[in-house]
Amino acid sequence: MAQIIALHSHRGGTGRSSIAANLARLMADSGRRVALVDTDIQSPAAHVLFGLTELAPRATLADYLIGRCEVEDAAVPLPIAPGDGALFLVPARAEASGIHEIIAQGYDVGLLREGFDRLIEALRLDLLLLDTHAGINNETVTAVASAHRLIVVTRSCRLDLTGAGETVEFAHQLGCSRRALVVNMVPPGMDGHQAGQRAEAAYGMKATAVLPYAPELACVAGDRLFAAAHPEHPVVAQFRAVIPSLMDED
Ligand SMILES: Nc1ncnc2c1ncn2[C@@H]1O[C@H](COP(=O)(O)OP(=O)(O)OP(=O)(O)O)[C@@H](O)[C@H]1O
Ligand SMILES: [Mg+2]
Repeated sequence: MAQIIALHSHRGGTGRSSIAANLARLMADSGRRVALVDTDIQSPAAHVLFGLTELAPRATLADYLIGRCEVEDAAVPLPIAPGDGALFLVPARAEASGIHEIIAQGYDVGLLREGFDRLIEALRLDLLLLDTHAGINNETVTAVASAHRLIVVTRSCRLDLTGAGETVEFAHQLGCSRRALVVNMVPPGMDGHQAGQRAEAAYGMKATAVLPYAPELACVAGDRLFAAAHPEHPVVAQFRAVIPSLMDED
């Protein structure tokens, strides 16, 4: 059965999109059929991380939600390492296209959930990753409620950690009981073990990964995906190492 994994953060800028995009690529490189859906219609990013700066006239998630296309028409195939895997990206929207209709008229959120199921079937996916907007909105609620597993991404600072209780409660209410915690951007000079422990205490769960602030990751600036540009980087090795624990292959 295909697994749906959503990434969520209480606050913005924690590294969700970067982690989602790199995990998606590495999962596909290891032979799985993977799609990443950028549900962050307000501030899309995933397409930039894959170097797709010019989206128009491609179809996007927003076009699907306002009835202009089928969801699978919005799935862009992306290059991966040779093997049995496949990687697709469903970008959130192109430039301002679609956002006016969505803001003015809204859309049927049931379509989003149907779209996830349809993508799994049409693209014969093993894994569907859902990038989300920070905090709580319609798309985030639907993504988390649809997911078999939630990856919570947080920095170890006090502002991020104050949202821990709310995030845990949110996932609980939406019935997403399998959770993983990724502590990201541990500043240089801060002990990673301590940063991990602080986040673990706030979230009441073990951290699956504690990732340092990596200037190379901040600098990639969208030309190429970080995992493709720096396959030997220690952070990429950490991404690879956590993949088995994020998937239920029973
Ligand atoms: N471990 C890291 N070290 C250094 N920079 C990082 C790290 N992780 C992410 N970044 C950088 O931080 C910035 C924000 O990352 P990203 O867009 O992935 O976060 P986000 O949580 O998806 O943000 P948003 O809330 O805007 O959607 C990007 O410039 C990214 O390259
Ligand atoms: Mg993002």
